[in-house]
Order: sequence, then structure tokens, then C-alpha cells
Amino acid sequence: MAKLKWGMIGGGEGSQIGPAHRLGAGLDGAFEFTAGALDHRADAGRAYGQRLGLATDRAYGDWREMLAGETARDDRVDLVTVATPNATHFEITKAFLEAGFHVLCEKPMTMTVEEGEEIVRLSETTGRICAVNYGYSGYSLVRHMKAMVARGDLGDIRLVKAEFAHGHHADAADADNPRVRWRYDPAQAGVSAQFADCGIHALHMASFVIGQEATRLSADTVSCISSRQLEDDAMVNLRFDGGAVGRLWTSSVALGRQHGLTLQVFGEKGGLRWAQEHPNQLYWMPLNGRLEVIERGAGGLSPEADRTSRVTVGHAEGMPLAFANIYADLAEAIRAGKEGRMMDPAADLYPRASDGLRSMAAVFAVAESGKAEGVWVDARPPMYR
Ligand code: NAI
Repeated sequence: MAKLKWGMIGGGEGSQIGPAHRLGAGLDGAFEFTAGALDHRADAGRAYGQRLGLATDRAYGDWREMLAGETARDDRVDLVTVATPNATHFEITKAFLEAGFHVLCEKPMTMTVEEGEEIVRLSETTGRICAVNYGYSGYSLVRHMKAMVARGDLGDIRLVKAEFAHGHHADAADADNPRVRWRYDPAQAGVSAQFADCGIHALHMASFVIGQEATRLSADTVSCISSRQLEDDAMVNLRFDGGAVGRLWTSSVALGRQHGLTLQVFGEKGGLRWAQEHPNQLYWMPLNGRLEVIERGAGGLSPEADRTSRVTVGHAEGMPLAFANIYADLAEAIRAGKEGRMMDPAADLYPRASDGLRSMAAVFAVAESGKAEGVWVDARPPMYR
């Protein structure tokens, strides 16, 4: 089977997320890294692209050059990943969708709800995939949690508790460091800092697993480091469209917490607990039963979990492999489209533009509610009301 061609914008040398994408896209041999505009400095981007093995004419200096170059080719890339800073996502994603490319955009997909709606419409009218990299939803046991909820193991979901709380911006002496400061500056970061950066991962994971969307929320947002204009901590209460209650905590000043992404789901027949820093174990407590540990890779869990488990039980599996599962879903979706067949339903789990849009609506809702001392507000984008 011919490999699909993959291109990347952003993710240059020294970037935080670029290597995880390259590892993820390359893992299964479904994609060949073919084109890139990797850096905001044209020469550095070209040079790094060539060092990573791109042909000289496909190691571009700039995303517009890449758009023109790839559009003109018969063997254009099948998928473009956008892993640049947030404020550029909208215009790059829009331009590539309009030119007929499938796109995987980093989160947050856009800076406003209106832009998010435009991307959703564009993806629908062009028939192109616009996926959003909520990459943690690619973990095998996260998919197993979703499968357990969907098949009714937990019964009706009463409560979901999500956290994404780390301590990496806790040093007040470091608050003026330019690499940190922009994140809390409304002119550069928009209406929210910590919720828009990390809270949306936790919210997406909660919605993904329980199969319900947030409808209303009330937020308590604070800047624990008082020089910050945007929040470095938020506690958000939520209601979901299937009746679940949500509790979400996100923080960047939680010293001692590392990545700090966790999910707990409590249903009428059982409860689940999972933590991203220990992704190979899922804790399951059936009503009136005993606490059980479900090990990733044990086999026979669910089609969704078995398909996304890559190394044998007992060996650690981590974040780039979760990203690989998003890429595997996309490879299956693109191939199914090319071959005119239905895609494998166990692969049809990659996060969509609609998820990116819902996140943006939640970001603005959190900002609005936080300013109004926690008043309950609509968490849905106007398009889905
Ligand atoms: P970074 O600042 O470490 O790297 C950004 C890269 O993009 C650099 O190589 C830079 O030269 C390049 N770049 C900037 N403007 C560009 C342009 N116009 N054209 C081409 N290249 C350009 O940023 P980081 O942390 O890698 O974040 C990138 C994106 O990924 C952000 O949107 C962030 O929110 C997201 N992210 C997502 C994560 C996830 O788990 N899904 C985790 C970390 C970041």
C-alpha cells in the first residue's frame, strides 16, 4: 500500500511539540514526511527540513510558499499538520482547507468562536478533514474508558472530574520571563491563559469519554501571581447535555504537579480513574465490587483499546504513541475516502473541527463567567445552540 504524504507547518528545531508529531506520524509507516515549513525563520526552517530528510524543493521557507508549491504538484501532500503558535492556526488552516488539503491543527484551533465556526463550515463544504490535536484522547485506555461508558458498564454518568494542573509557571520571580509572560498577556494570548492552554484538553477528554457535550458552566478564575492579567488557575463547574455534572480544575501554579492531566468518571454502576502520567493503568470500581486495575495491552478490552495498544503489556506507552493513534485514525479516514469505502468505526475517533469550536466557546464562556464571579453561562457555540 502506497504511503500517504505528510507535511508540517511549525514544529521547527527546539519546538516543544514538533518531535511528538514526527514520532506519531512516522510510527506506523502510513505517512511519509514529505514537505514542511517548519520555522518562522525561513532559512532555519529550510535547513532543518532538509536535515530531517525533506527534498530541497519541499523544505519550504514559509507556509504560503508551501501552499503554492504543494498545490501545484500532482503528488501533493495528503495531510498537513499545523503546529505553529496559536494566533496563526486560523489563517493557515483556512488556507489549506480552501486549497483542498486535509488538516490536523494544533489546539486551540482558533482564537475566536467566529473563526471556529468558519473552519467547521469550511471543513463541511470542502469535504476535507479538519482534525484538532487533542492528542491525549489517543491513549489506549482513554479510548477504553469511552468504550466502557458507551457499552453501558457505568450506567448513566452522574459525575465527571477532570484536572489539568501543573506547576511550571509557579515561580513569581520568573513571571516577567518573555517565554512565560506572553501567555498571560491578553494582547497575545486572547481572553484566557490557563484554561485555553490546558483546561480545554481536560474538557475535551471529559466530553470524549462520556460522549456528552458541555452546555453550561460557571467558572472561578484567578491570577495567583497578581501581576498576571489572565488566569493562572481556574475551577469550572459544568453541566453536560446527557445530564452529567462536570468539575474541572486547571492550574499552572500547582507546584509539584508535573503534567497533571487526570480523569475520573462516576456512573450509577461504577467509577473509573485514569492519570496521564501513569497511562497504562485504569482503575475500575464496579458498584458493590472490588477495585480492579485494567492494564493496557492485556488484550480483549475493547476494539478501540486493542487497536491503539502498541507495545506488550507491562511496557510503558506514552504521549507520542497517543499522537500516533490520532495519525492512525487519520490515515484510515484518508484511505477510506480515497478508496470510497466506510472507515473502520474503531478508528473514527479523531477529534474534529467541531471539538475545536466547542473548546473556543468554552474558553469565552469561562472568561465571561470568571469576570462575573461565577455566573452560569451558555458554554455552547451559537452554531450548536
Ligand atoms: P514552540 O514555540 O515551542 O514552537 C513553535 C514552532 O513554530 C517554532 O519552531 C517556530 O519557529 C515555528 N513557527 C512559528 N511561526 C511560524 C510560521 N508562521 N510558519 C512556520 N513555522 C512557524 O511552540 P509549541 O509549544 O511547540 O506549540 C505549538 C502549538 O502546539 C501551540 O498551538 C500549542 O498550543 C500546541 N501544543 C499542543 C500540545 C498538545 O498536547 N496537543 C502540547 C504543546 C503545544
